[in-house]
Amino acid sequence: MGHTRRGRGGELHHPRLYDVAATVAFAGFRRPVFDGLVALSGAAAGDRVLDVGCGTGYLTRRVARAVGADGAVVGVDPSAPMVAHARRVSPSGCHFHVAGAQAIPEPDASFDLVVASLAVHHIPADLRAGAFHEMHRVLRPGGRLLIVDLRPASGPLARRLSVHSVPADVVERVTALVTAAGLRVVATGTRRPRLYYVRAERARVRGAASRDP
Ligand SMILES: C[S@@+](CC[C@H](N)C(=O)[O-])C[C@H]1O[C@@H](n2cnc3c(N)ncnc32)[C@H](O)[C@@H]1O
Repeated sequence: MGHTRRGRGGELHHPRLYDVAATVAFAGFRRPVFDGLVALSGAAAGDRVLDVGCGTGYLTRRVARAVGADGAVVGVDPSAPMVAHARRVSPSGCHFHVAGAQAIPEPDASFDLVVASLAVHHIPADLRAGAFHEMHRVLRPGGRLLIVDLRPASGPLARRLSVHSVPADVVERVTALVTAAGLRVVATGTRRPRLYYVRAERARVRGAASRDP
């Protein structure tokens, strides 16, 4: 995943190369790893899901299987070539925008679930706070967020061989951004091969039930 050249900011511009690099990086286990992430996200039939930093749409398509024909998945990525590729290879329940996480072209409270895999470290640092505020904005009250990204390599040799240098406190940093955006962190943890996750939710509207007739 570090072998694909980046454009301005953290955008990637070589979809086929990216998919080959990702297949190699996951040592042939990309599909089971991502299906595990879909299960972790709680994506369910009928859900409307946003995939932030969708790249070639690999996770978008795995989520589309979980939400079925009554659901929908929208991917956003600022890289036009990545989105063009995702559009070409994805089924009809998947929709895409060329857009950064810091300006998501979707209405307020329009998603049940927001997911982002391997994307947060690609969002320029000065845009990350705004990106998490956008994720909060587009989630409906009670909606869920799943962030998955690279965790630090363990051990000096692994660190030296790693193409990505990940801060040791990356989970704390992302948790702080999620919380500052107004979301409640419900769980953090790790996944093989070298991933961390942060799960969060948007508060339900207090007193909504009492306003019902
Ligand atoms: C490593 S790829 C991950 C793609 C996909 N989510 C996956 O798991 O295969 C990171 C993606 O983040 C995108 N990206 C870069 N800047 C971004 C931003 N500001 N907002 C959203 N995505 C961004 C890149 O263009 C790239 O497609």
